[in-house]
Amino acid sequence: MCGVVGYIGGRNAQPVLLNCLARLEYRGYDSCGIALDGGSLRVCKDIGKIAELAKVVPQLDGLAGIGHTRWATHGAPSRINAHPHLDCSGTIAVVHNGIINNFQVLRRRLEAEGHSFISETDTEVIPHLIEKYYRGSLEEAVVAALGEIKGSYAVIVLAAGESKLVVARNGSPLIIGVGDREHFIASDVPAVLDYTNRVIYLEDGDLAVVTSGGVSVTSRGAGVERKETRILWSVEDAQKAGYEHFMLKEIHEQPKVIRDTLVNWVSVADSVVDIAAMRRNLESMLILACGTSYHAALIGKYVIEELLSIPVRVEIASEFNYYGQTLARTAAIAITQSGETADTLKTIRKLRAARCLVIAITNVVGSSASRLADHTIYTWAGPEISVAATKSFMVQLMVLYWLVMSYSRIDPGRLAELVMDLRGLPEKVQRVLGRGDVISEYASYLAQHEDVFFIGRGINFPVALEGALKLKEVSYIHAEGYAAGELKHGSFALLGSGTPVVAILARDNTYEAMLSNIKEAKARGAPVLAVAEEGDVAIRELADFIITVPVVDAIFSPVVNTVALQLLAYYTARERGCPVDTPRNLAKSVTVE
Ligand code: F6R
Repeated sequence: MCGVVGYIGGRNAQPVLLNCLARLEYRGYDSCGIALDGGSLRVCKDIGKIAELAKVVPQLDGLAGIGHTRWATHGAPSRINAHPHLDCSGTIAVVHNGIINNFQVLRRRLEAEGHSFISETDTEVIPHLIEKYYRGSLEEAVVAALGEIKGSYAVIVLAAGESKLVVARNGSPLIIGVGDREHFIASDVPAVLDYTNRVIYLEDGDLAVVTSGGVSVTSRGAGVERKETRILWSVEDAQKAGYEHFMLKEIHEQPKVIRDTLVNWVSVADSVVDIAAMRRNLESMLILACGTSYHAALIGKYVIEELLSIPVRVEIASEFNYYGQTLARTAAIAITQSGETADTLKTIRKLRAARCLVIAITNVVGSSASRLADHTIYTWAGPEISVAATKSFMVQLMVLYWLVMSYSRIDPGRLAELVMDLRGLPEKVQRVLGRGDVISEYASYLAQHEDVFFIGRGINFPVALEGALKLKEVSYIHAEGYAAGELKHGSFALLGSGTPVVAILARDNTYEAMLSNIKEAKARGAPVLAVAEEGDVAIRELADFIITVPVVDAIFSPVVNTVALQLLAYYTARERGCPVDTPRNLAKSVTVE
């Protein structure tokens, strides 16, 4: 998704902007650009990577500037469509993250008034609107311009000779990094961490005038104070720390983040979540999410229904928005690692409007989800840079487990066993990580194929979905996750020696049926790679390849099994030479519906 950055202070803005943009590369982008104010505005932008732009950009001097990484929504990736965009006079430059829904109407009107446009983007209406309303005060013109816009935005406006940046947020994240007589603006914290760990999170509806010496924020016309937050993770936390890719680093961080989430959440849970309120609403539960977070939600359903006997409905957020529901007395959980996924945010708004209790589970402090929900449970994964979600998924699971286990309905003996197992998970995950060499060997085999099926039953059906999603997004191999019993209802037609089947097992009531499904796949010539418990003798007779995982209570089997599948996807993608951390066509946070 697009990233915006801005700088104003005593340094030459050009290298600062390029560095901040490079820190946002993980969001995914197809083009990038910067604009500097050196008395007049100078703009340099193009399709491609920041490193390529840095090679060709002429030395632009200026103490204030803005920059952008674009992920195309309106108009193909091109130099003209890349940001920053200018007004007719070339004195106002804008970078924007978000979507302007009424841009065609605005554009037609501005064209009729004599403004000429050069790009296909929705963003270009913003500098023209500001130009139209400019009467000597940049901030007043920005307020008037944004008043015309329907949609979402994080914008940064730079005007020649103004010695200030005007920034505004509505529906897309925006932060201000505070330095010593200098300020950094960005869509996300990692962009500014090389310079400062003091950050102001803007809220929806905020407009800020930022100079080298200060920040003044207004919300709908009235002055407001937004407190500074100190970021406790360092720029190193957001770097690769010796790993070849962020994805591998983040997979390996999982023992630590499991521990951190359990410790932190357990110690603050009662103060952040009104458990009593949630219990009152607990006739049924609804969980909403997208993508990998949706798979965590599906696992949560199994855990809640198994341990609490409460019916749980899990919905893909983008679908939930389309039909009428009976929402009364529903306690809802919205899971979103970024806290900015447009479809998930829309469901939160809808549920809140229907007076449902909404708890957000998110990894990003100050994210939109945390602002919209009644309560927020933060996961403690630290920044996740790789586009493919790994450790953020794991901590979502931890929060769901702990949420369920903090209810008194569970038999105390069973609870004691589960708590013991939960505490042991970091060490068990570490052992799966220790099997990287074997998994990488199997990945070399998988990498030679173009179609793979993942099968699981019960609580490991969502794990099959997640394994397939991970493989396809990073290795570009077509993969399908299936409930193992469903394969015979059509997809058997595709099985053969060229379509490996990855079978995910647990020693629960699904085990025997899984063995039968594996036999069925083998009978149709499909090579089988099984993820199975240590000591499972029966599987040795059946599978061609086995990744063994430590023995855990079956309810926690998604944890160890998923880690094995994450490594499998990672090594397969690496074997195929894919850009693991920035897969094509994908973005880290999906802020459009
Ligand atoms: C896959 C992946 C996506 C996200 C999805 C939801 O690896 O990362 O499928 O899980 O876009 O994102 P969040 O959790 O930020 O709402």
